[in-house]
Amino acid sequence: MDKLIINGGTRLKGEVKISGAKNAALPLIAACLLTEGCTTLSNIPTLRDIITIIKLMEKLGVEVKGKDILKIDASQVRSYRAPYELVKTMRASILVLGPLLARMGRAKVSLPGGCAIGPRPVNLHLKALESMGATIKLERGYIVAECKKLRGTRVYFDLSTVTGTENIMMAATLAQGTTVLENAAKEPEVEELASALKKMGAHIEGAGTDVITIEGVAHVHPIEHTIMPDRIEAGTYMVAAGITQGDITLLNCNVTHLNALIEKLEEIGLKITEKNGNLRVVGTTPFKSTDVKTLPYPGFPTDMQAQIMTLLCLVEGSSIVTETIFKDRFMHVGELRRLGADIRVEGNTAIVNGVKKLYGAPVMATDLRASASLVLAGLVAEGVTEVSRVYHLDRGYERMEVKLSQLGADIQRVKE
Ligand code: EPU
Repeated sequence: MDKLIINGGTRLKGEVKISGAKNAALPLIAACLLTEGCTTLSNIPTLRDIITIIKLMEKLGVEVKGKDILKIDASQVRSYRAPYELVKTMRASILVLGPLLARMGRAKVSLPGGCAIGPRPVNLHLKALESMGATIKLERGYIVAECKKLRGTRVYFDLSTVTGTENIMMAATLAQGTTVLENAAKEPEVEELASALKKMGAHIEGAGTDVITIEGVAHVHPIEHTIMPDRIEAGTYMVAAGITQGDITLLNCNVTHLNALIEKLEEIGLKITEKNGNLRVVGTTPFKSTDVKTLPYPGFPTDMQAQIMTLLCLVEGSSIVTETIFKDRFMHVGELRRLGADIRVEGNTAIVNGVKKLYGAPVMATDLRASASLVLAGLVAEGVTEVSRVYHLDRGYERMEVKLSQLGADIQRVKE
């Protein structure tokens, strides 16, 4: 297992290229199951979660070649079973359920368990597929779904669910008749999937709003598509600029996806300017405390909650961070406290009292975004911070220590 050793205190300066979005790439790779042919996806980030979904596609009999440009040939799908060994390492494996069922008439997908950020059920995915005519049974830890031909219907999601909306949108693409998704997720990754499916020949309207209408088609065809930039990776480097009082220019980012975050960071005091689609972020103190509440898009993203909390740890005054999406997503708090942060958690709220300094110490990553928040803390903490269990970070950040070193950080990866 690797760990990161960070010697804090350097102001980060320079340019960083933002990678393709993990949470857009994963559903797009799964969507290839709908096509009988070879799809080419570019700007694929090199991440552990991408390796996992490729392994899963291969288990299903799909041929996958390449790395940052993937050629995914789903001419033949030989299996409809997504095994526990892969699903347990990545919950997003559930994304194969909808397309497998639509293509094969059956799917057997291991039921994802809880994870470090909460229980994370998939009941809304299953309820929607049932309303489209599927029979769903739970057998020895597996979701067993069957339906010769899914039929379009009205689906109302009790909660806005990102992968739920994506799964049902993919299933509905090959269903008979029209499916209307109400209270659908509006995240840019959902819109990206819809636009790729439309290129494949799907009939989809309304993606990016909370009502998506999908008129089923008999076939879809392979495409070439470039994955959009990762808004959470971009946000993490924006916080890195702020916390180190640095000056970082983000290349290849989509500014419109970052509005809620930009608004908050400017409120704290970061100077953010856009030029030719690039974002320059300058962290010049004094910063002001603020309150943050996570919400579905276009609200403040839960995937940036841990990172902004780290920044608020060093801002004079009290800030209140409320997590409404995954109510237990505060595993980073205990570790940030080990570095000297003053944070109190009450229910789904964290009260952060700014301190003058953080001090390096060994800390342990517990999930992807929590890991990123600890790396950010390490960049500014006095002395050495050792972040262990870096495999969490590798799930969603491409070569983070390399990108940070190029910006001037004193950070190294070592074997534990
Ligand atoms: N929920 C249910 N039932 C369901 C589905 C969701 O109760 O059937 C609840 C969840 O427990 C949660 C809320 O609905 O409280 C929203 O969850 P959602 O389904 O939107 O989350 P997800 O689709 O599992 C995706 C991202 C997450 C991101 C969330 C929220 C992917 C692959 N994952 O998860 O990304 O936090 O949306 O924006 O797109 C990450 O990248 O670090 C990450 C965790």
